[in-house]
Amino acid sequence: MADDRFQPVARVDEIEPGTLACVRVGEIELALVRVGDEFYATQGHCLHLQGPLCEGRLEGTVLSCPWHGWQYDVRSGENEFDRAIQLETYEVRVEDGEVQVAL
Ligand code: FES
Repeated sequence: MADDRFQPVARVDEIEPGTLACVRVGEIELALVRVGDEFYATQGHCLHLQGPLCEGRLEGTVLSCPWHGWQYDVRSGENEFDRAIQLETYEVRVEDGEVQVAL
């Protein structure tokens, strides 16, 4: 049975390995991250002061907020300095060259 939780957000070839993009599903803004051939999606705004995470800097699996540098592991959403602080993360899959996120 089709899993209709998944929504298309980008084409695989639009996002180079080691980069990220701002994507939106309805009202929800997300940061879509590509590490090698794996994709991850987190909420789009930082838990500090709502900085735009999708405009942040990616090193490996660590995403740094562009405003004040809070860092998160995109695999779990956990803050690198305080693991009690955790971004919302979303399941991602690739189908027919399309990146899809489950909300
Ligand atoms: S808003 Fe992200 S570190 Fe301050």
